[in-house]
Amino acid sequence: MNDAFKTLAERTEQALQGGGAERIAAQHKKGKLTARERVDMLLDEGSFQEIGQLVTHRSTNFGLDKQVFLGDGVVTGYGTIDGRLVYVFSQDFTVLGGSLAEAHAEKICRIMDLAMQNGAPVIGLNDSGGARIQEGVVSLGGYADIFFRNVRSSGVVPQISAIMGPCAGGAVYSPALTDFVLMVENTSYMFVTGPNVVKTVTHETVTAEELGGAATHASKSGVAHFTAPNELEALQALRRLVSFIPGNCEEEPPAVAYVAGDERRPELDTIIPANPNQPYDIRQVMNAVIDPDSSMEVHADYARNMVIGFARVEGRTVGCVANQPAVLAGVLDIDASIKAARFVRFCDAFNIPLLVFVDVPGFLPGTDQEWRGIIDHGAKLLYAFSEATVPRITIITRKAYGGAYDVMNSKHIGCDMNYAWPSAEIAVMGAKGAAEIIFKNEIAKAPDPQARWQEKEADYKEQFANPYEAAARGYVDEVIRPSETRIKVMHALRMLRNKVDKLPRKKHGNIPL
Ligand code: HXC
Repeated sequence: MNDAFKTLAERTEQALQGGGAERIAAQHKKGKLTARERVDMLLDEGSFQEIGQLVTHRSTNFGLDKQVFLGDGVVTGYGTIDGRLVYVFSQDFTVLGGSLAEAHAEKICRIMDLAMQNGAPVIGLNDSGGARIQEGVVSLGGYADIFFRNVRSSGVVPQISAIMGPCAGGAVYSPALTDFVLMVENTSYMFVTGPNVVKTVTHETVTAEELGGAATHASKSGVAHFTAPNELEALQALRRLVSFIPGNCEEEPPAVAYVAGDERRPELDTIIPANPNQPYDIRQVMNAVIDPDSSMEVHADYARNMVIGFARVEGRTVGCVANQPAVLAGVLDIDASIKAARFVRFCDAFNIPLLVFVDVPGFLPGTDQEWRGIIDHGAKLLYAFSEATVPRITIITRKAYGGAYDVMNSKHIGCDMNYAWPSAEIAVMGAKGAAEIIFKNEIAKAPDPQARWQEKEADYKEQFANPYEAAARGYVDEVIRPSETRIKVMHALRMLRNKVDKLPRKKHGNIPL
């Protein structure tokens, strides 16, 4: 028996060592943690249960018969975050560059299958040179097995990818299929083809960081939802993200205790500038309506004219979607529409009520947007809101113009409660442009066209630049004092807690992708 224990101890030790002390030191030198250190820091202390520690690599080609790699370059298993079950895989760059091979892929697939069967999130810590070159098509097949599961799991269990090192070639498609991507600044990158191939094909000179680093994907491409300055903060961000979301699509999101206090927010009564063209930061409004310090912004540096993120109201998770008048006047463009649409669909899939703040002058005009398909992309947001069956609350703080009024969670497309502030302007367009179009001839013929234009603009404003026409028709449920917004939202969320709304039977819809 002693010998048996000795063998077990030796193998366990070998597995824990990964690629060996030298490679671990090299990993640390780059400012990176090892696969096991990451898992330990991500999960509650002592909660990690490893699966497949002694699985070995299979290929014996190109010298791979000389050494046995226990675990095959990936640490897989399950544990808890704040006591809640999660499944984890963590690629070990010290073993053959964390490259993905047959057994490596099977281990990841195993925990993805367990996550589906048991209804818990999957968190992938990616740090890999991609498909193991020595294994050829078997590793490509392994990737596809993972992609297939990513898609089948989508909307069933939350999937989160952290990029902690290289992620290149087709390997980027598994993170892309997951719900959230977090990248570590300066030590991670994602691209389909690296700088060398780019140089050969397009003659562009670009560094890996410029091409696919955290800043690039957080601000330019939108591939990364979050970035963190280092691995420790990245792992903490993952824990925080998990705290907002349920384990699966049948569960409610977790709630935290909330002690009620004075819920009025007088500062909101003076937040809208007197001049309707003057910007303000919608995050100040959101922060006053949600529980103090409860927000986690998603895609903070991408399409900043739209703000999205998780927060809590009375301790319960909500998904916030808001036009940002401080950036591009809060206009809806392609990137903002796509950003918000994906988030709305995540929230809807995982039973997270939506809280929508509207101050939008319309869709962004111009050839750039039209030629790149604002029609289809704007329709994504319309589609996402229209199919969402979770509780949905809208607050119109100022402008709700044109198609953007319809799109931004209007009553017509299924919002449950629509509140407007007295400063709301709900109209087909701004008064100036409207007067110019409908009174064009009259203005042209007037002895003083400018004065007539201003007069007509004032008439239009009087008629439409307010919330009362919409309230009279029931499109707005209540015109409220801004300081009472939080109280109204709290009541509405309580009232809607047991909402049941089902989509018509279908295989699936056909969102304009
Ligand atoms: C096997 C690999 C490997 C791979 C790295 N290694 N990538 N082994 N298959 N894909 C090994 C290296 O040989 C080396 O082993 C060790 O990992 C560390 O690699 P280094 O190159 O020393 O590290 P570094 O300088 O940090 O560079 C990391 C790297 C580079 C940028 C990732 O290794 C690299 O370019 N690797 C190849 C990337 C690639 O082309 N992968 C295939 C992509 S195509 P030793 O023993 O020498 O230390 C793909 C298709 C997926 O993934 C398709 C899905 C549909």
